[in-house]
Amino acid sequence: SRTDKAGHKHYMAKEIAEQPVVVAEAIRSCLPAASDRICLPGEDLDFSKLDRLTMVACGTAFYACLTAKYWFERLAKMPVEVDIASEFRYREPPIPERSLALFVSQSGETADTLAALRYCEGKADKIVSVVNVPESSIARESDLALPIHAGVEIGVASTKAFTCQLAVLLMLALKAAADRGTLTDEELADHAAALRGLPSALNTALEQDNSIRVAAQRLSEARDVLFLGRGLMYPLAMEGALKLKEISYIHAEGYASGELKHGPIALIDKNMPVVVMAPRDVLFDKTVSNMQEVMARKGKVILVSDDEGIAEAQDGVWATIRMPYVHPSLTPILYAVPAQLLAYHTAVAKGTDVDQPRNLAKSVTVE
Ligand code: G6P
Repeated sequence: SRTDKAGHKHYMAKEIAEQPVVVAEAIRSCLPAASDRICLPGEDLDFSKLDRLTMVACGTAFYACLTAKYWFERLAKMPVEVDIASEFRYREPPIPERSLALFVSQSGETADTLAALRYCEGKADKIVSVVNVPESSIARESDLALPIHAGVEIGVASTKAFTCQLAVLLMLALKAAADRGTLTDEELADHAAALRGLPSALNTALEQDNSIRVAAQRLSEARDVLFLGRGLMYPLAMEGALKLKEISYIHAEGYASGELKHGPIALIDKNMPVVVMAPRDVLFDKTVSNMQEVMARKGKVILVSDDEGIAEAQDGVWATIRMPYVHPSLTPILYAVPAQLLAYHTAVAKGTDVDQPRNLAKSVTVE
């Protein structure tokens, strides 16, 4: 059934494992077979009539928005503002003309996000939501609600909803790029092909379960863990830290690699594991020097990268987690899997209640 554990020890493990299937479903919902063009379900949006984007959410959905900011800016050349709903709603931010307001919520019922949406009514040109529950309040009150097709998510710490949100947001950014003429047909076709290959890359990532469990065993003894990433990996570093603190109760922080020297480097010593999320991309060399700064202070680096990145990284890395190559735009969706599995196995090693972490609720419908 849709709500049993299907042989897994926890709902969270089951939901992590489902990602190749549900992400494929999300991709199919906006990328029709035999086409390179994104086709949104429901009313069609025309991004050539929009100048800017305001994205608002809470928790994991907020990190999906932060990731999407990189996509909308880079692919569609659209200025993007991202905020957490509890701040946005009381700040009374001005909403410029020709703005799209975009709300991301798994449940569609988060009180702060709903209030932020209501604040934008009559101010933004269009209100769009990205939701997992199509009957939810946030979906009903939007001009257009895009479903993420993750299926029922029971684990309190969001996993498959996050990757499905990312898939839909990337396709929305590609639609914006097509409408605004900021990507060539060839670039759009490359993205479409890469999206179609993503479910199989997610399967390969899941096959790293053993090496991730070994790394997690080490993490489970830490008191604090730092996650570092640059570019598209920066929001994911924060999401990785959020997952770890939510379910293992280990203090964790996500930082932009380049910001290491402005504070967190003071924390580094032999007891401080640092998870570095770094595909071999244009920023990789800079990340390698950040890793060296960590290792020079006896910090323990867990490097999540691809073959080339792992080969290029210096000796002295504590543990490596190997990811397959994907199109550079897709790395946050793929690298979410090791981030989730690291948190999961660390929590299992510590014996915490993975699916029902203390003090947390799946859906926060009161302020
Ligand atoms: C709670 C959940 C998180 C979730 C956040 C936002 O904090 O524990 O997993 O990311 O709410 O929820 P939403 O349903 O709006 O995505």
